[in-house]
Amino acid sequence: MEQTLSIIKPDAVERNLIQNIKDIFTKNNLKIKESKKIKISKDEAAEFYKVHQSKPFYNDLCTYLSSGPIVVMILEGENAVLANRKIMGATNPKDAEENTIRKLYGISIDKNSVHGSDSIDNAKKEIDFFFDL
Ligand code: CMP
Repeated sequence: MEQTLSIIKPDAVERNLIQNIKDIFTKNNLKIKESKKIKISKDEAAEFYKVHQSKPFYNDLCTYLSSGPIVVMILEGENAVLANRKIMGATNPKDAEENTIRKLYGISIDKNSVHGSDSIDNAKKEIDFFFDL
């Protein structure tokens, strides 16, 4: 069964949306295999998001992800990577389809409530980054 990494970002944790978001995953046949609430340093965020290091938004992105508690989860299901991306919706909540997590809860392109791996390869790397299984 395929696995992917999901992060509930500080904006959603702060608004007590953890359970609402978890319910959306499980209702859509993604099983939450592991879940932990953590706070990471800016250096850890910079390492996690290093694929974006050349982007103009990189510094703000790292500051933001390390600004408060987050929930990191391993989701498992059929085509989990793609399924999770569909459930999350477009990166910018303004462009996200109805009933996606980012449409329901996202505030802006930065505070877009969730992160999800974008490929099977990255899912493996991102799971290894947060979980020592
Ligand atoms: P995420 O899926 O976590 O991956 C990188 C994040 O960078 C993205 O969600 C957005 O929250 C953030 N971001 C900020 N500005 C942009 C942008 N112009 N394009 C893509 N991502 C952006």
